[in-house]
Amino acid sequence: MTHKVRIGLAGLGRMGRIHAVNLASHCHSAQLACVYDANPEVAREVGEWLEVPYVDSYDDILADDSVDAVAIVTPTGTHADLSVRAATAGKHVFCEKPISLDRQTTLETIDAVRAAGVKFQVGFHRRYDPDWVAAVERMRAGELGDVYLFRTSLRDMKAPKAEFLAGSGGFFVDVTIHDLDTARWMVGEVVEVSAHGTALSDPAIADIGDLDTAVVVLRFENGALGVIDNSRTAGYGYECSTEVMGSRATVRIDNPQYHHYEWRTPGQAARGLARDFEQRYPWAYAEELESFAECVRDDLEPRATGMDALAAFDLATAADQAWRTGHPVSVKPQSTDDGVVYEFDREAS
Ligand SMILES: NC(=O)c1ccc[n+]([C@@H]2O[C@H](COP(=O)([O-])OP(=O)(O)OC[C@H]3O[C@@H](n4cnc5c(N)ncnc54)[C@H](O)[C@@H]3O)[C@@H](O)[C@H]2O)c1
Repeated sequence: MTHKVRIGLAGLGRMGRIHAVNLASHCHSAQLACVYDANPEVAREVGEWLEVPYVDSYDDILADDSVDAVAIVTPTGTHADLSVRAATAGKHVFCEKPISLDRQTTLETIDAVRAAGVKFQVGFHRRYDPDWVAAVERMRAGELGDVYLFRTSLRDMKAPKAEFLAGSGGFFVDVTIHDLDTARWMVGEVVEVSAHGTALSDPAIADIGDLDTAVVVLRFENGALGVIDNSRTAGYGYECSTEVMGSRATVRIDNPQYHHYEWRTPGQAARGLARDFEQRYPWAYAEELESFAECVRDDLEPRATGMDALAAFDLATAADQAWRTGHPVSVKPQSTDDGVVYEFDREAS
């Protein structure tokens, strides 16, 4: 393939617009072929704004022979069906996390996409962020030595809308899943998950049985420990930071300031922080789509695969179980030809 990889995008909400802008403007190897949203007004608005065709149905994207791949950025409960339909139509698939709200559907989707022989990348964007990538490269080169402690924070400034929360799969599957993927990618496989959670900011969150604050503790196969803290309602801004302490060095990826000036009044200094994930990741989201297009064009395996999404989903459901039961969950990573699969007693109460 010599042309830019032409990608049709479905779902133009908070995340879909970020991906649409990146595909339209910031990817050398990809081109935004067309956009679609279940709300036709939204599709028209974004299509006109970005000066790309907007279509009336998902099938219009799949029927277009000039489209090489789809980016699925719709609510989580729709990912599996849209991924399978795209793969069956011969389109490569970039799918936002998680693949599905349940394990069986996740497995079936991975199988269907594999059978169709197309590329399948999942939206774990931190694997494409220059800071995390640089840290992992130096860790892989042995500069950090043995890992002792992994620590990561992911905190939203404010909770998303109630409709989003209701279809999100719950706090661990929607939010912590990013940190669990980062933990596996940076440190390795996990053997035990403990979790505590609470909902304090809004009774509506507790009413749907969800959380706004959680702490997850991991024990890794190599004996290292991990601590994840998550919030839906940090208030001061959006934060994502990670630290890995090792026998030879420690790497810390801080939460950078968003504005590059500091306002100083006598005795005080204020700096601007990112308000949301769009501001926190000026490069990662564009880079993950650029990398996806390169995988399609050059026949390479994506860095964040369907099996990675399954492993992180399994750890997220283990965290959910640990929170509900109040007991740590022992998990067993099993290597397969395609990746790692986690086993644990899913019925434990
Ligand atoms: N990687 C990240 O950092 C990140 C951040 C936010 C959201 N996400 C993921 O992205 C996905 C979308 O989240 P969001 O916050 O943008 O949601 P959103 O509710 O803001 O937007 C969803 C959009 O999809 C449209 N839609 C609904 N059903 C559709 C269908 N069948 N076909 C086409 N369009 C449809 C809706 O009209 C809406 O415009 C979720 O799976 C979420 O987990 C990932």
